[in-house]
Amino acid sequence: MEQKRYGHFDDLHREYVITDPQTPWPWINYLGNEDFFSLISNTAGGYSFYKDAKFRRITRYRYNNVPMDNGGRYFYLKDGDTVWNPGWKPCKTPLDFYECRHGMSYTRITGRKNGVEASVLFFVPLKKWAEVQKLTLTNQSNEVKQLKLFSFEEWCLWNAATDMENFQRNFSTGEVEIEDSTIYHKTEYRERRNHYAFYHVNTPIQGFDTDRETFIGLYNEFADPQVVMEGKPRNSHAHGWSPIASHYIEITLKPGETKDLVFLLGYVENEQDQKFAAPQVINKEKAHALIAELDTTEKVDKAFAELCDYWDKLLNIYQVKTANDKLDRMVNIWNQYQCMVTFNFSRSASFFESGIGRGMGFRDSNQDLVGFVHQIPSRARQRIIDIASTQFPDGGCYHQYQPLTKRGNNDIGGGFNDDPCWLIFGTIAYIKETGDFSILDEMVPFDNQPGSEVTLFEHLKISMDHVIKNLGPHMLPLIGRADWNDCLNLNCFSWDPNESFQTTENVSEGTKAESLMIAGLFVVTGEDYVALCQKLGKTAEAERMQQAVDAMIEAVKKHGWDGEWYLRAYDFYGRKIGSNECEEGKIFIESQGWCTMAEIGADDGMVAKSLDSCKKYLECEHGMVLNNPAFTKYIYEYGEISSYPEGYKENAGIFCHNNPWVIIGECIAGRGNDAWSHYAKILPSYVEEKYQTLHKVEPYVNCQMVAGKDAFRPGEGKNSWLTGTAAWMWYTVSEFILGIKPDYDGIRIDPCLPETASDYTVSRKFREADYDITIHPNGSQKGVKQIVLDGQAIDGTVIPYSKGHHVVEVTM
Ligand code: BGC
Repeated sequence: MEQKRYGHFDDLHREYVITDPQTPWPWINYLGNEDFFSLISNTAGGYSFYKDAKFRRITRYRYNNVPMDNGGRYFYLKDGDTVWNPGWKPCKTPLDFYECRHGMSYTRITGRKNGVEASVLFFVPLKKWAEVQKLTLTNQSNEVKQLKLFSFEEWCLWNAATDMENFQRNFSTGEVEIEDSTIYHKTEYRERRNHYAFYHVNTPIQGFDTDRETFIGLYNEFADPQVVMEGKPRNSHAHGWSPIASHYIEITLKPGETKDLVFLLGYVENEQDQKFAAPQVINKEKAHALIAELDTTEKVDKAFAELCDYWDKLLNIYQVKTANDKLDRMVNIWNQYQCMVTFNFSRSASFFESGIGRGMGFRDSNQDLVGFVHQIPSRARQRIIDIASTQFPDGGCYHQYQPLTKRGNNDIGGGFNDDPCWLIFGTIAYIKETGDFSILDEMVPFDNQPGSEVTLFEHLKISMDHVIKNLGPHMLPLIGRADWNDCLNLNCFSWDPNESFQTTENVSEGTKAESLMIAGLFVVTGEDYVALCQKLGKTAEAERMQQAVDAMIEAVKKHGWDGEWYLRAYDFYGRKIGSNECEEGKIFIESQGWCTMAEIGADDGMVAKSLDSCKKYLECEHGMVLNNPAFTKYIYEYGEISSYPEGYKENAGIFCHNNPWVIIGECIAGRGNDAWSHYAKILPSYVEEKYQTLHKVEPYVNCQMVAGKDAFRPGEGKNSWLTGTAAWMWYTVSEFILGIKPDYDGIRIDPCLPETASDYTVSRKFREADYDITIHPNGSQKGVKQIVLDGQAIDGTVIPYSKGHHVVEVTM
């Protein structure tokens, strides 16, 4: 396959620059940092929502559309008989120039046609519930241009799920109000909703449309809306059907002249007793106030500068300078950026996640927070409390919760037996970053029930106990519904295609299904928990848990080793999974990752053998596959994993999330060359250089899955953006490869590098200190010989924390 290039990195501006609108798949970006969010593709497709992509969808989007990615915020420019869009779509009029720059929480799309340039900057200002669209029009020709401009947004009727199905109601509820240059969307405001949205432009308009069929025409499309084609708005007022918002503006531009227009898509909430200004008329005070804050180019430019400054500060917390641009740009820019995005959205809203099905995942969000905690620890703190509040008194927990209500999601329920361990993982990462032990004293409820509060520490304790109380016949953890691999459904047994593997009632009576992945995870988090207890002076608890950890290690050595690698699991009947004895699926990656991280049996050579087996059986050109050989038929006792065709998803796809587990295992074992070669295979900047067409999805972020060696098209990526891969890639490179590890009392320095690595510098802000750390690897893969802190050699590998600026020299 010819590997065409569609764009390139611009590191100076921290942007990815797309130069051809016809990317192999929509290449998107995220706008917004806290409450108001938007997804935007390189042709301006996408949608906006407030906090929750299911319950507060502001604009409509149709997934899996024909063509893909139709619908978004569109500007139609009519210049004589030519109608075009700055982002090429939806008219697809060939442009003289096209460029899309995806940056840190903003996107700038520029198109040029017949001497007119239209450049739109899209962003959500900090702390504002609005998306700004600053359109700059420039006449680059020698003649006067008379342009007709039509904006376009389509309202969603708030609940993204019912919006797509309940048409017998929906077609009668739509309501709008129009006031000067602002179009208000107020569907259902008359009844229980206390919120509305608006679309405003900071200039007088010469017309508008708010009824979709009037604007587009029943037999036309986004590409040729009848109003635009006729060059005349109809001033339609939507009653029911599908409300939209379109402004019509006539613009005259002299040669060389430039004009800015600021469009604002905003969201407002009102108190119950302040909803209306008059009967049936919404109270617009807050909308007016929001508009007043962003109604000039100067105000918008200032808000944009604040956003850029915000990202400068966030990214400056950890910056590396190595001899390798491809590494630096991922560490310094894109990996950290993706971590913020996954922290914000968990697995809810992307171009692969509809925003309807999944809220925040218990295990997912705990992992995401490890990639984010250094950026804004206070938000990570709140997240930990929110997550822990969905736990049950026995230590089990809801698998997901809804971001708007923060309530556990009953549709999916609980019973995923790895979930509790992740709370320990997330909380300890938070404490190590911040030194804030007080979080452990926070009173946190069970299942959000007032009156049920216990300390967060107690939640951690019952999390550990949940594993210990659920051991199987080999004294290994029972898997429950599933462990990290949602698709290894060992207690499910489904022959009915209408059942979901995730929610089908499990057979729990008499199950022997145990997980080696949870065993390894338990040892890793257990050892961290023990160290925490010691730190807190809880000696008895530390001893109690150390015994449990030791017992687990013994159980793994005895019942979890297959000769060349760790087993993956035991099935319902107690038969081995991931063993050489199996016909297919002889080896799985998850248990290799977690048991090598836990160093189980390292002295007996198990770790080295397991890592070698990963290289031998799992590694391919594009990364390590999840299992090998792939399953070629559906296995009723295994569930969803065997439902996928070979090489995809959990059936021998390269599930990027788990590659870093093995890489960390390599790092702990000191095998820097191997760690690096695994890492570089799934590092987007390396893929970007080689495989833009094949890879298909955005080359600036990791995707959840790359098709494995057994797939029809190995190397093809899917499910970009929202994946635990982001946090794990970050954790791996920042702490294990580059070796800068936050710890309770300071920063531990312990790099693991390829022999070829040259000197590098990391500047790291840590609590109230700044460290400039230079590492001299001297051809060594692992092992710190000496650390000099502010001119003084120190003992050991932990730089003790103290406020202020410090210079550190590390010799390996
Ligand atoms: C889910 C994770 C899960 C992984 C592996 C992801 O889609 O979000 O929770 O661990 O798949 O099945």
